Amino acid sequence: MSDAAARGPSRRFFLGATAGAAAAPMAPVSAQPVREDASIAGPVALTVNGREYHRQLDVRTTLLDALREHLGLTGAKKGCDHGQCGACTVLVDGRRVLACLTLARAVEGREVTTIEGLAGPNGDLHPMQAAFIEADGFQCGYCTPGQIISAVACVQEGHAESDDAIREYMSGNLCRCAAYPRIVEAIRAARQRMRAA
Ligand code: FES
Ligand code: FES
Repeated sequence: MSDAAARGPSRRFFLGATAGAAAAPMAPVSAQPVREDASIAGPVALTVNGREYHRQLDVRTTLLDALREHLGLTGAKKGCDHGQCGACTVLVDGRRVLACLTLARAVEGREVTTIEGLAGPNGDLHPMQAAFIEADGFQCGYCTPGQIISAVACVQEGHAESDDAIREYMSGNLCRCAAYPRIVEAIRAARQRMRAA
């Protein structure tokens, strides 16, 4: 007896048989096996931090996976991968979005900014990055790229006028280390510098 026969019906066989049976009243049973690895890849052009990238990506690839696994930009973090933690926050045309819930293909022709793109061309930190360091606005740092990107947008939106507003409009960015008081302090300080810049 072959190894396959000894193992009994495979999952692929079972799925193929089930799909065929379900379709029977509508059409002749197809002999085509079910493809478990089906993917539809195509060219995608992304503009990230002012640079254009061209990749062949599955249509289902999220912006977060495209950044991290195909462009080598690992600043945006994968926390929950379900839109709940904010660790993956990036800017698209200046607005914050959750990269784990955004398809890469959906942002073609738009400008994506990640934490890697915040510093100036000569390496000077963005005022928000500098303020986070000065205020000790992190502990493990895992949430920090998302916090900083989100904080930049929060100030630009005019939603950082008070500590209460900062807390409210930063509530989509969770910090497991609970560095919240210092994050608020950092945003308050950076708000003044961003206005002065
Ligand atoms: S990884 Fe996107 S919201 Fe958590
Ligand atoms: S600094 Fe650790 S999760 Fe925020």
